Amino acid sequence: MSQNNVVVVGAGVIGLTTALVLSKHKNLNITLVSKHMPGDYDIEYASPWAGANFMPVGKEGSKLRAFERATWPEIDRICRDIPEAGIHYQECKVYGRKKDEGTAVGIWFQELIKEDPWFKDLMPEFKILDKSELPPSCNTGTSFKSVCINTAIYLPWLLGQCLKNNVAIKRGIINHISEAPSHHTTGTASVVINCTGLMASKLGGVMDTTVYPGRGQIAIVRNEPGAMHTTSGTDDGPEEAMYIMQRAAGGGTIIGGCLQHGNWDSQVDPSLANRILQRAVDICPSLAPKTGKVTELSIIRHGVGLRPMREDGIRVEKELIGTRDQDLWVVHGYGHAGYGYQSSFGSAFAMEELVLGIVNKNAPKAKL
Ligand SMILES: Cc1cc2nc3c(=O)[nH]c(=O)nc-3n(C[C@H](O)[C@H](O)[C@H](O)COP(=O)(O)OP(=O)(O)OC[C@H]3O[C@@H](n4cnc5c(N)ncnc54)[C@H](O)[C@@H]3O)c2cc1C
Ligand SMILES: *[C@@H]1O[C@H](CO)[C@@H](O)[C@H](O)[C@H]1NC(C)=O
Ligand SMILES: *[C@@H]1O[C@H](CO)[C@@H](O)[C@H](O)[C@H]1NC(C)=O
Repeated sequence: MSQNNVVVVGAGVIGLTTALVLSKHKNLNITLVSKHMPGDYDIEYASPWAGANFMPVGKEGSKLRAFERATWPEIDRICRDIPEAGIHYQECKVYGRKKDEGTAVGIWFQELIKEDPWFKDLMPEFKILDKSELPPSCNTGTSFKSVCINTAIYLPWLLGQCLKNNVAIKRGIINHISEAPSHHTTGTASVVINCTGLMASKLGGVMDTTVYPGRGQIAIVRNEPGAMHTTSGTDDGPEEAMYIMQRAAGGGTIIGGCLQHGNWDSQVDPSLANRILQRAVDICPSLAPKTGKVTELSIIRHGVGLRPMREDGIRVEKELIGTRDQDLWVVHGYGHAGYGYQSSFGSAFAMEELVLGIVNKNAPKAKL
């Protein structure tokens, strides 16, 4: 029945996780269609560029905080039980500097750097670091057990789980919402899930002009830091950041970064690259144990990814859109900024609830 046909648009961490969660409902027939797929590296595709780790940043009362809370148990379970998903546990050390209050990066990490944060009961092994354990430039510090996801393994793993659950996967570009149902394997669908990330700002139909890029530049190196490290800012301007995380299973160590609002530049900025590496070695000398110098870093590659920012935060919402042929339900799931992995399952569960509500309402009343 076409009312149980669902098209998921987008194969980033949000589209794939949502398709996987929906695929557990055997009454749904799901096709995922996307312009980019795991394995691709493109400036329009944020997910492969992420670290990715789990550092809670949701503000009180926000969707993000609820999604982070709902996501941790899932990521924790996958990390513990499914080695082939490419996630491992890592200690996460977070350092606060008083002078970063109010900067772009300082605002992003506002909740993270508190010494009494909301997530101290969510993340295991939370503790306050002693002053002697802090880098000289930092005023406060905490540590907790988190994860680092090797996105080059995890995204294909998610895709594989979808295939196993009979989700059809297709390559395609949707130019207008009304085209989406025709991409379903049956040629028709009554629900479209919109997980287009940053490109929600560019598609035909209803364009969301509050979606914009938050540019992140990173380096991946072979050196091993021992733990993940993050500071609330740097001395190189309000949009520059310092974070270090080692990916699971030989994925290398991601060193970042920056959060440049409204910047679409896909090219690596070489002087920023130098600052990124220098800051990492300064905060984490164990990255370069022999000389303490940047030249000891063995670089795999530099990269740029654009975080899908949205002025009012993540949008998870249903919308009835009248097209020429039919009324179409669109369930939106975009605007995950710098936290798409750590909010992925929470977002997907919220979309699942919306989809089931639509499908059950559409269903003809059961005959008694
Ligand atoms: C440098 C960097 C570091 C990050 N670190 C972390 C981290 O440590 N932890 C964390 O949780 N998050 C992190 N993030 C954020 C995270 O990467 C994003 O929030 C997440 O990837 C967003 O996923 P998405 O599925 O919404 O978007 P995307 O991954 O961009 O996927 C969008 C998908 O939609 C498809 N699409 C778009 N338009 C169309 C169309 N018209 N037709 C068909 N398909 C279309 C694209 O092809 C793509 O497959 C980081 C991001 C960056 C850039
Ligand atoms: C979805 O519908 C197509 C076309 O009828 C069918 O071939 C496929 O097996 C269905 N998939 C699921 C998971 O029901
Ligand atoms: C996704 O939502 C955005 C913002 O409303 C819109 O521009 C875009 O057309 C939607 N895409 C799909 C495939 O529904």
